[in-house]
Amino acid sequence: MISWEQITENNSPSKQAGAAVATDFQPEQQAEIGGNPDLIDSTQPVRAEDKRVVNGCSDINQLAPFKYPWAWKYFINANKNHWTPLDINMAQDIYDYKHKLTEAEIHLYENVLSYLTTSDILAMRNIGLAVMEKMTAPELQIYQARQVYEESLHTWTYQHCIESLGLNQGEVYNRYRVVPEINRKIQMANTRISSILRNDIDLSNSDELHNFILAYMFFAAVFEGVWFYNGFSPIFSLQRRGLMKGTAEQFQYIMRDEVMHCGFGIRVIQQILVENRITLDLKAIKDMWEEAEAAEASYAHYILKKPVLGYTANDHIEQFRFIANRRARQLGLVEPFPNATCALPWLDEQANIRKEKNFFETRVTEYQTGGLDWD
Ligand SMILES: [Fe+2]
Ligand SMILES: [Fe+2]
Repeated sequence: MISWEQITENNSPSKQAGAAVATDFQPEQQAEIGGNPDLIDSTQPVRAEDKRVVNGCSDINQLAPFKYPWAWKYFINANKNHWTPLDINMAQDIYDYKHKLTEAEIHLYENVLSYLTTSDILAMRNIGLAVMEKMTAPELQIYQARQVYEESLHTWTYQHCIESLGLNQGEVYNRYRVVPEINRKIQMANTRISSILRNDIDLSNSDELHNFILAYMFFAAVFEGVWFYNGFSPIFSLQRRGLMKGTAEQFQYIMRDEVMHCGFGIRVIQQILVENRITLDLKAIKDMWEEAEAAEASYAHYILKKPVLGYTANDHIEQFRFIANRRARQLGLVEPFPNATCALPWLDEQANIRKEKNFFETRVTEYQTGGLDWD
């Protein structure tokens, strides 16, 4: 059985090499890695040692030999988590939403959905437009291409939930613009993506490269690794009480994708740090975690401003801190919230439940493997 969280833990270079922090990089390592464009002959076969994550000069159109075989494994593993929102029966959710949810639970459900759908579009734009084009090894881009597809699939999933329940689409999609507590998180992401979605970026400049690393770190470790990872838990709390189980099942599939996106991003960041002479600004990273915590606390108090059985804002915020520490450890950095405890011990199980067999029990449509009309 695949443990989606273990995939990221086990693939961490710091786990494998025992490295403490990425800033342990020694300048002389760079000569061993290669990457000097003046020494690479474009008429010769690609050598793995010439590949680099960014600022590489080897042929981007030749997949092998791999320098980053772990990236190819991510692509293979990603294809084991394949579904579409149409595979999951939403009929009971429609009944639950109309007849069982309290006013507070409807408020919770709709605002979580509103936040997530905006976030996944941002995640798609970040990886597809701002990050992928800066990668200079094809095995990295191929997984990221899959990630772009998955982010769009997630957006389809939220839209499918919104359509199934007959929610007011204009109102739900506009909520991130008019609710300050949702907008605050979105603006943090917007600021990061805007700083790297420019066509005048020169990643051979150390300041630009450092900013790119922090932006990618924000999206992988904070946005996907904590905000998404914890972002589904309010819906899982409803599922644990037998409510909105179709939505929760959809979110379990999304969560497994997000765990891999987070793990891959962290691995890429660590590799950039090995290949480049960059000293991380640890104060800037500490500030990032604290800003993210403040935004999450504000969001949690908004979505849970009225009590919901079995789930509190304080649980949500404490779980943010607990998972933030995990992501920091995966990065090889100090824990930002050393005293945090696991407030939702059932959450990790959601990422590891084997679901493939359930397709044949709950799917409501037939797969179309032929008969496509191209006209
Ligand atoms: Fe996503
Ligand atoms: Fe993602």
